[in-house]
Amino acid sequence: MSELTTRLDDLHRRFEAALTAASDERALEDARIEFLGRSGEVTLLRRAIGSLPAPERPGAGKTINDAVAVMEGALAQAQTRLQERAFEAELSERIDVTFPGIAPNAGAIHPIRRITEDVCAYFARHGFAIVLGPEVEPDYYNFDALNIPADHPAREGFDSFWLTNALLLRPHTSPMQIRTMQQHRPPVAILAPGKCYRRDAVDARHLFQFHQIEGLLVAEDVHFGHLKGMLTGMCRTLFGPEQNVRFRPSFFPFTEPSAEVDTTCPRCKGLASSCGMCGGSGWIELGGSGMVHPNVLREVGYDPDVYSGWAFGFGVERLGLTRYEIDDIRRFVNSDPDFLRQLQ
Ligand code: PHE
Repeated sequence: MSELTTRLDDLHRRFEAALTAASDERALEDARIEFLGRSGEVTLLRRAIGSLPAPERPGAGKTINDAVAVMEGALAQAQTRLQERAFEAELSERIDVTFPGIAPNAGAIHPIRRITEDVCAYFARHGFAIVLGPEVEPDYYNFDALNIPADHPAREGFDSFWLTNALLLRPHTSPMQIRTMQQHRPPVAILAPGKCYRRDAVDARHLFQFHQIEGLLVAEDVHFGHLKGMLTGMCRTLFGPEQNVRFRPSFFPFTEPSAEVDTTCPRCKGLASSCGMCGGSGWIELGGSGMVHPNVLREVGYDPDVYSGWAFGFGVERLGLTRYEIDDIRRFVNSDPDFLRQLQ
């Protein structure tokens, strides 16, 4: 009997040691199988009961059962201990759900392109085709065909980058009028956006590379009222429903009559006084326009007695200054994403 107790004590001690050493559920399970399992150490002890004298057997059975109950209790405790430890570890892991995420550095449409697309979309809705042309032009398309002969002083006004005697970086998009009309019979209705170049010193209102949008409508019975209607609609689309346009007499060799186009200052709504954007005039200049000169129509083989048309050319950066209320045109090309991202 006492030998059994000794063996049970020893077994119990080793079991407790195994439980203490177990660092996970798997190790606990191994210990359980080794000691309490069907062919574990306790089962071996139970088998030994058969060789005891009959009167001792019930007592021995009870002793073993009691010991097993204690060991099972210890096992359950060890399991609880491990689970709690795992739970504590999980809790001590800190996740700050208010921490700002890392925003993907997505690209955005440049404001100059956005304005170009908005203007194109407006005219496309009215049936205009969008055409693109070369940035390097022969002087024929840039000047001669636009009624500016070689010795004409108007050439000086387009301070151009000449590549050869006869090739230049286009200083305006008007050559696209000629290219379009030479390829198509009237009626033509086009919009030609694109880059232009002039030898201007860079300052708050000038860049040597900038963008223009050319518009051209030629058909029978086209008159100035159509131009005014289309441009009023364009300005209302871009700047808001209260916009108006006004025309000031001007001169371009390729239009007659010619006019500068202004639109209501979007900041002061034409109330002027001390508005910093329009300088107190209540108007913002958009660009040049006019009725296509008969000489230009003749040059492309259109009969000026049958067809008439209008054209305009606007600076996109100028539209951008107005739309985004920016004071310096250089901001568009300084490639500061933080700034450009704000202009939508
Ligand atoms: N091409 C002219 C310029 O750049 C603008 C313009 C276009 C004027 C079409 C009249 C008609 O100054």
